[in-house]
Amino acid sequence: MPQPTDFSFSVHATDGAARTGAISMPRGKIRTPAFMPVGTAATVKAMYPEQVRDLGANVVLGNTYHLMLRPGAERMERLGGLHRFMRWDGPILTDSGGFQVMSLSALRKLDEKGVTFRSHIDGTAHHMSPERSIEIQGLLGSDIQMQLDECVRLPAEREAIEKAMRLSLRWAERCRVTFGEQPGKALFGIVQGGDIPDLRIESARALADLDLKGYAIGGLAVGEPQAVMLAMIETVEPHLPAAKPRYLMGVGTPDDLMQAVSRGIDMFDCVMPTRAGRHGLAYTRHGRINLRNARHAEDTRPLDEQSACAATRDYSRAYLHHLVRSDEILGMMLLTWNNLAYYQELMAGMRAAISAGRLADFIGETKAEWARAEA
Ligand code: GUN
Repeated sequence: MPQPTDFSFSVHATDGAARTGAISMPRGKIRTPAFMPVGTAATVKAMYPEQVRDLGANVVLGNTYHLMLRPGAERMERLGGLHRFMRWDGPILTDSGGFQVMSLSALRKLDEKGVTFRSHIDGTAHHMSPERSIEIQGLLGSDIQMQLDECVRLPAEREAIEKAMRLSLRWAERCRVTFGEQPGKALFGIVQGGDIPDLRIESARALADLDLKGYAIGGLAVGEPQAVMLAMIETVEPHLPAAKPRYLMGVGTPDDLMQAVSRGIDMFDCVMPTRAGRHGLAYTRHGRINLRNARHAEDTRPLDEQSACAATRDYSRAYLHHLVRSDEILGMMLLTWNNLAYYQELMAGMRAAISAGRLADFIGETKAEWARAEA
């Protein structure tokens, strides 16, 4: 098969609102539904890039905010771009920076022009406009770029949510102009609108009119209950073009992923599997296991003897417990590896189940296995 020269998305099978398919682009193919490991600072923390690829991840995420501050966007370009820098030759999606500015930096100010903020690393002042965000994502060499947006934490008043949604729409148009035509790369819009259905619909429709290559749903998993998040996905989904990929940003737990896939989501990213791995938590076929807990101290069983992942299959819970309690680096490495393996296995399971028209059964079986372990 010759390498594709453009970005395209094809749906191979559907099951209810769920779909499975693939994004094709010059740097490779992304099988969907996809989970994208987060590589914030040019590393999926505690993982070798080769390991990430071997787990079946087709795409990783990078962060404009972190990389513009360190090592710097222009320096990254001089070094040959993010792919070469971190030794990841598959597709890279970059978040635009606005969300991280709001959650990490000090003294931030947001207006029509963009965001002004102080670095959380050294206090230096920076400004990022929608145009500069796209310029930086280009310097990094990102394959899938995100518009600059404003995300409001929930609960919030309608007025604040509406203002942020409208600003995000204006910024989407400016990002589109700056991005221009880049065959083989994609710019995604981000639906905002908090927990208010009419605002979500307005945002989705206006973005659909911009004819972007893909659409994210942002502003969720920011303090609202899971039921509200799922209701917002159901509200937005009919208003997004069926032929374009849909990406739910910053989500989530294994259950969130299954619920969102069954409502038509194709792509996810979340720090949960990597961050939890650094804090002694393992996601497994038997549910979530806290290895700090004393009950594992003399448990010679692995996390899952049937797993294809060595971290999951070959190391005893007693050893993992010891590593976690001793703050050993290997504990973080093994649990991150286990968690990403589990997330990729879950996505592969969902893709196969959608193809076979049995996603609801797959979800039921997966949850029954978690419940059996709890009993
Ligand atoms: N990551 C998680 N949620 C969001 C969001 O609403 N916007 C952006 N840009 N990134 C996110």
